[in-house]
Amino acid sequence: MKIQGVFVVDATELADGVRLCAARAVDAEGLEQIARQLEAPQELASRLQPGLVSELAARGISANEVSRHARDFPYLHLKGVFDPADLPDTPLNWTPIPDTRGTLTLRVAILLLSRLSGMELVSYKSENGGALFVNLVTLDGQGAMAEKSKGPMKGHTDAASFPFRGTNDPSDERIAPSPDVVFLAALRNQDGVPTTVMPLHGILGGLTAAQIEVLKGDRVTLLAQRSFQRGTREILGEAHVLYNSHVLHESDEGTWVRYSHSNNVVDSEDVEIVSAKERFEQTCLLCAQQVVLQPGDVLLVNNRKALHGRAPVGEANGGTSRWLVRGYGLDTTGLEAGRRYEGTPYMLYP
Ligand SMILES: [Fe+2]
Repeated sequence: MKIQGVFVVDATELADGVRLCAARAVDAEGLEQIARQLEAPQELASRLQPGLVSELAARGISANEVSRHARDFPYLHLKGVFDPADLPDTPLNWTPIPDTRGTLTLRVAILLLSRLSGMELVSYKSENGGALFVNLVTLDGQGAMAEKSKGPMKGHTDAASFPFRGTNDPSDERIAPSPDVVFLAALRNQDGVPTTVMPLHGILGGLTAAQIEVLKGDRVTLLAQRSFQRGTREILGEAHVLYNSHVLHESDEGTWVRYSHSNNVVDSEDVEIVSAKERFEQTCLLCAQQVVLQPGDVLLVNNRKALHGRAPVGEANGGTSRWLVRGYGLDTTGLEAGRRYEGTPYMLYP
């Protein structure tokens, strides 16, 4: 459907079509087999694509519309995309994801949505050893990571220190772009903890033209996201840092953002950048929208046109505590082979 130049997808029909196709694939192949096939996600997506396309065509939806929607809009909340069945206790770590019908239909559903969005499901070797999907749960034990997993998460884009698609890191051109889309799927969220999304168009609306220009200048240093710090240190020799760079970028697809409230540094004597950053962060708070994911829901967050975060999760872990699964999508058209790891079908450098 096209309204005033903008593609709008019928979220209910899309969720229904994807649910049917994902469930069909898992039931036809069996759990063990589909778990193995997910190790070569592009091959599996290609096999499932014809059935998916005709299922959606019957519902009046084309892949092109989904792709446009995923790129144009800050987020897309799809309800009831998979059946969160047969769940064991919520895991205590990022990996592994236990192979049950519920978690496998979830993963196939995300794979189908990434294919419809014109994207490849990818991971980065420096984060969680390159796992394609990870549990977002309250982590077991002590330490900064465990603490961070319980608290609120301020607005950020994922892998914010990595380049925008179509650009290079100034010090290492092998570094792959950050993801275009972050897929968040809920298996459990009994306290209804909201995910927050801050659309970029709302943030920009609260800034002056001069402040926008300042944020397009090379005046912000972005440190690696916490989950990437150890891995980038191992691969690059030191944790990745993007020194004195821009957080807003003009692309062919409009203005893009990369940002992290907790991992950026500016020169405190540069009053222009200090005040632009302050205003940017105030406006993020003002335009934050809350999305409560229910079990079975999938949220596509546009990682270039929105920041995301979440409310505090609380102390509980394991058992029936909150459990989301995350995957990354990237439009890999034109991605140089050197930005991938040879012999792995989805892992990007670093
Ligand atoms: Fe994130």
